[in-house]
Formats: sequence, C-alpha cells, structure tokens
Amino acid sequence: MMNTRVVAAGLRKRICSADDAAALIAPGMTVAMSGFTGAGYPKTVPPALASRIDDAHARGLDFRINVLTGASTAPELDGALARANGITMRLPYQSDPTLRDKINDGEMDYLDIHLSHVAQNSWSGIFGEIDIALVEVCAIRDDGKLIPSSSVGNNKTWLERAKGVILEVNRRQPLELEGMHDIYYGTALPPHRVPIPLLRSGDRIGERYLHCPADKILAIVETDASDRNNEFTPPDATSRQIAGNLIEFLRHEVAMGRLPKTLLPLQSGVGNITNAVLSELGAVGFAGLTAYTEVIQDGMLDMLQNGTLTVASATALSLSPSAFVRFAEHIGQFHERIVLRPQEISNHPELVRRLGCIAMNGMMESDIYGNVNSTHVMGSRIQNGIGGSGDFARNGYLSCFMSASTAKNGSISCIVPMVSHVDHTEHDVAVLVTERGLADLRGLSPKQRAQQIIARCADPAYQPMLQDYFDRACHQSFGKHTPHLLKEALSWHERYIETGSMRS
Ligand code: COA
Repeated sequence: MMNTRVVAAGLRKRICSADDAAALIAPGMTVAMSGFTGAGYPKTVPPALASRIDDAHARGLDFRINVLTGASTAPELDGALARANGITMRLPYQSDPTLRDKINDGEMDYLDIHLSHVAQNSWSGIFGEIDIALVEVCAIRDDGKLIPSSSVGNNKTWLERAKGVILEVNRRQPLELEGMHDIYYGTALPPHRVPIPLLRSGDRIGERYLHCPADKILAIVETDASDRNNEFTPPDATSRQIAGNLIEFLRHEVAMGRLPKTLLPLQSGVGNITNAVLSELGAVGFAGLTAYTEVIQDGMLDMLQNGTLTVASATALSLSPSAFVRFAEHIGQFHERIVLRPQEISNHPELVRRLGCIAMNGMMESDIYGNVNSTHVMGSRIQNGIGGSGDFARNGYLSCFMSASTAKNGSISCIVPMVSHVDHTEHDVAVLVTERGLADLRGLSPKQRAQQIIARCADPAYQPMLQDYFDRACHQSFGKHTPHLLKEALSWHERYIETGSMRS
C-alpha cells in the first residue's frame, strides 16, 4: 500500500482486480469511458470485460453494451470490445480499424456527432441513463478529489451523470500532471446558461481536480500502463508542400493586416498533415503563437519547447510514445503553458468564436463548390468521424481544410464534382489546401469558388475532367447559381466503386 496513488484511505477498500471491476458491468448497460485520441483511456477493465463478453457469447448468451467516450481510444478498448462483438452503440468518435470494420459491415451502430455536443446531449438524457462511468485518473487525493489523467474529454460529465463509477488509477501517468487541468463546473442546460468567463487560450477558469462522491465509487483498479499512440510518420513531401502553402497564406494574411503577427489561437486537427503544418510553422520563424485546440500532438510540443508557442489549451495530450517521454522529462517547462480542459470547453462554439481560432483540419474530399467530406469513403464507409472539426470550422475566424489532391495512388481525386457526404458545408469552409496550391474561398460566389478550386487545388490529371463537368453544368444545369449535372454529379464515386479508379 506504500506506493498506492489511492491516497484517500477510506477508498482503498474498493481496490480490486480488473476482472472484479469488469464483473460489475452487465449486458445492456451504457458505460461511459474516459479517453481522447489515444490518451487517458481505461486500460485493464475493457480487455477484462471483452473476455467476459467472449465467455458469455461462447455460452450462447447475448452480451453487448453501449460505449460512450471522449473521442478515439486504443486497441485495448475499442479494438478488444469490437473483436468480442460487445458493442451495440458507440459514440462520439473512433478510429480503430476493427471497430471501423464492424460499423461498416453493419454489425453495430455508431453515432458520429460534434464533440462539443456530447456533454449537453448526455445532460438532456438523449443517450439514456449512464450506468457506469469507467474513468482513468492519475491519483485519488486524500480529500477524495481526482487528479485527471492525460486527457479530460467528457470525464466531468461521466462522473456526474453515472449511477456508479469504476476508476482506473494509472501510476504510469506522471503525478506532475497535477495542476495542468482546468475543470470548469459552470456549464448548464438552457435557459440557465451564463457566459463562460474565458478570454484567452491560457485562462484558468475552473478547478484542478475532478469531483466524484465517494459513495458512487464501486471499484478502483490500480494500473501501470502507458497510453498507446503510434509514432507520427515524418512529414512526406506532400505534407510539407501542403504545410508550405498554408503558411505562405498565413504570412500573406499578416501582411494584409487581417491577422496579427502572432496569428490567432491555432486549432489543429488529428493526423500527419496537420502535425506537419505545426512543425513547419515553427521552422519558418513564427513566434509568440497560442493554441486553443483539442489535442496536443508532437508538433505542438516542439513549438512549446522552441518558443514558437507560448501556451496551448486542449483536452488531451495525444503524443507519440517518444514525445510523451520528452514531455514527462521536461514537464516543468510545460506545466504552466499547457491547460487541459473538458471537451465541452475546449470545443465550445462560444469560445472558438470569441477567441477567433484558426481552424486547420484534414478532409477526405471537397467538391468544386467547397463542401467538405471528412468522414465517409465513397459516401457510405465511415473512416473516423467528424470529431471536433465542425465545432471549430463553423465557429473559427478562419476555417482551413487540407488534404493531398489525390488518394490511393492517384485513383481517387480528392476534388470531386459533388461530395458523396457532407460534414462541412460551403459556408464553413474558407480555405482549401492541397499540395497543388491553396484556394481562398472567402467572398467568392459558387461559380468563382469552383474556378479557384479546380485551378489551384485539383491534381492535373483530374483538372480537365473537373473543368469539363463545370463548363457543361454552367450551360445545362437546372439553375445557374450552383451549376450541377445531377445524373453525373456522383458518377466519379460510382466509377471508382465499379472500376477502382475515378479516371474516365
Ligand atoms: N476517398 C477515399 N479515401 C480517402 C480519401 C478520399 N477522398 N482521402 C483520403 N482517403 C484515405 C487515405 O487513402 C487513407 O486510407 P488508408 O488508411 O487506407 O491508407 C485514409 O483515408 C486517411 O487518409 P490520410 O491521407 O492518411 O489522411 P489523414 O491521416 O490526414 O486523415 C482524415 C484525414 C480526413 C481521415 C482525418 O483528418 C479525419 O479523420 N478527420 C475528421 C476528424 C477531424 O477533423 N478531427 C479534427 C479535430 S481533432
């Protein structure tokens, strides 16, 4: 007991094995778990639960649960439960290959929603009752308060809403995380809302700890396991070119007086391209920047270390294993400069609009008018989910979407006549960037946007096809405001499904 991080003596009697904790979860329950982009998720109870589910299935019994989280987790959680066919409904975001296949094979339901909406929907009862909150924390203090882990996500809401709580106390998470969190307890449902008193990215408006009444805590499992995040692949030539195009544009905006030299708070989405943008920003001499974002990836850690970034607000530390080691070794450097908040605050539209964030997110495809699909391959196969991209794209000061101009070795054009699924409408997309160039869509009519996007963002192999579609649409379309040939608009996707290429 000497090394336990369960300092509250009265709670130590609840310490048990992962198997015993998993036994508290019954078929049909809704279990709300911690975890955000591979950080701060429970690591031992979900695999124990998956074994229990496997055993039940082997005995011919039905055993599935609903799983709610902050965002994506890791193989021990989403992978294990999906493999066991143990999930009825999953929300609000995932990126696990096994889980993705189960969803796309129609074996389970998935609700892909804006991350800022999850807490309020939970409070409204949209997801039904939450039976169990299963939350990783760093430690339980002697006063019973919880030191949050490497992500905050929806944990505040889960602990408040759940009937019972299972805690995983992970001693691998650095204790020095204490004090880096800012848990705001002032949100409410309408009409009882008041303005959230946050004016700058680094403002602290809440408490350092999560609360949980002791009588709700059913079990505590002590763990010692690291967050699982893959190493980022070093930026390739395409990512560097995309980053270069965006940075040239940001410099131009500074020169035009539309952005200050220190830019505006940066939001950077998940993935390698956005990570490359951050690395390049630091390399080209920007300094004194701030971030108001969801996840702190390796690129942002570099920027904090080299002074490009003064402060970063997020809900998760989504670092590669090597960057996490660097973070832990130099945690004193970051302690006052990283603020980890609940995702209802990190992604809050009121705050994103107030701060004037520069939103930078990845996309799968855009159409010639600037509607963006971030989530569905060929309109029907989910990739990950919308995550927080919509929270920031709709409300940011400047909304940028990035991707390579083609996918799958050039057989797919990421600029298409009409997107096969819409996550971000033309109204929420200010800037489109590929390695070919950048289209600034602000102030342009649909037809003007189409010309910019085709000329600046499309791959040369697809430019004549897009131009031909647009020219014919301009003459033959039912209406001439946003010209389309409806029978042809999605034919590129059909062709890809039928022939393996969008090329005609
Ligand atoms: N059609 C079909 N597949 C496409 C495609 C398109 N137009 N564009 C990309 N893809 C495929 C890639 O080939 C790749 O497939 P693979 O995993 O089989 O190799 C996969 O989609 C991922 O693309 P990649 O080029 O590696 O880009 P990425 O890692 O930057 O991810 C998104 C791009 C859109 C999937 C990612 O940004 C995302 O999930 N966005 C939505 C959530 C979000 O924006 N969150 C931000 C707030 S945190």
